Amino acid sequence: MPADLVFLGIGELFTGQPGGFLKEAGIAFAEGRVVWLGPSDEAPSARRTLDARGSIGLPGLVDCHTHACFAGSRAAEFERRLAGATYTEILDAGGGILSTVRAVRRASLAALRRTLEARLREMLDLGVTTVEVKSGYGLEPEAEEKMLRAMHAQRTPVEVVPTFLGAHAIPAEYRDRRADYVDQVIREQLPRCAPLARHVDVYCDRGAFTLEEARAVLEAGIRLGLKPRAHAEQVAWTGIAAVAAALGATSVDHLERLDAAGVSALARHGTVAVLLPSAMLYLHDPPPPVKDLRRAGVPMAVATDFNPGSSPMRDLWTAATLACLAMGLTVEEALLGITRHAGRALGRSDLGWLGEGSAADLVLVAPPPGEPAEARVLVQYMGGHRAAWVVKGGHIVAGREAGGRRAGRRRLPAVG
Ligand code: NIG
Ligand code: FE
Repeated sequence: MPADLVFLGIGELFTGQPGGFLKEAGIAFAEGRVVWLGPSDEAPSARRTLDARGSIGLPGLVDCHTHACFAGSRAAEFERRLAGATYTEILDAGGGILSTVRAVRRASLAALRRTLEARLREMLDLGVTTVEVKSGYGLEPEAEEKMLRAMHAQRTPVEVVPTFLGAHAIPAEYRDRRADYVDQVIREQLPRCAPLARHVDVYCDRGAFTLEEARAVLEAGIRLGLKPRAHAEQVAWTGIAAVAAALGATSVDHLERLDAAGVSALARHGTVAVLLPSAMLYLHDPPPPVKDLRRAGVPMAVATDFNPGSSPMRDLWTAATLACLAMGLTVEEALLGITRHAGRALGRSDLGWLGEGSAADLVLVAPPPGEPAEARVLVQYMGGHRAAWVVKGGHIVAGREAGGRRAGRRRLPAVG
């Protein structure tokens, strides 16, 4: 039986395994699966054969931490922070996350879905085939559910992994009744939202939720079948990383203030450390303890944390480069960080690598002009690597070489 689709002559194919760089490689898909991968000249016959000479191949990229479903603008907040205001001060004064909450509560489900789709299409054009998206800008049962429904309603080829983040901030109307809000998250939001989500996340930090509040929310989510994750040790150390790891978290994220006990807890429980270099830079935070994580053998993923406040940055390639420059990752760690380890952060052993049993997700990119077809140049050069082909589930779904439909259709906004 011939395969459905074969790419031949890939200059270098990174398989998502340590040291997995194959030269002059080919890859074949059939019935939505990878059926072969190896030296180009041994490729099986296929109904459709494409010449990918000179390109660089990687598993479809996985952005494992985003807040890509939002409405409203926070441009003024960016300027206030440049002028010296801190992220926590702005949140305490009812801005920051809470200003996005006001915009999301006002937005219709259709409007949320449309902007989410536009953002996902941009990510897909860069080769990102799976995107985790968090709720957390509704902070009331109806609006949290609306966000998750917008994620389910999106119709791009990107696979969205929805996460419930009702414990993202204390909404203004509960400012002096925080225990009542935690109660609402557990008794009303979670039962309504759990069927629409895969993970439960919490923002445990100064100005957000305490360790005990966060633990209660994670435990309630686990009882409803969700896999826990946490925004951990970002602005201030709280101890949530070790607690979440012990609760079976697939990942803990940010980690700029992670301590030695936290590092050992992640190693002991096999928890992935998700690094978010763009949020670290936007908030002027110090780098997380990458050397200690490496020494302890903790798998490190890298994500955009795309959101309108702490990380208005939606290019996963850029995040990979920043993780090297600002946090000290090696190029290979960064590549694993946006592929296999990102899949693991989502508890998904099929994502972020290529081989028998993997997802049939592939991105093929041309190197920058004059550069060799080597995956490492995509980390050396920062960002903006538009894919030649993007394959999701064994089918070509985007890319310049795939027809360029969207580029041709994009229109400038009307003037006057
Ligand atoms: O991952 N720190 C908390 N949550 C997000 C920011 C969300 C926002 O500012 O809107 C983060 O950085
Ligand atoms: Fe986040």
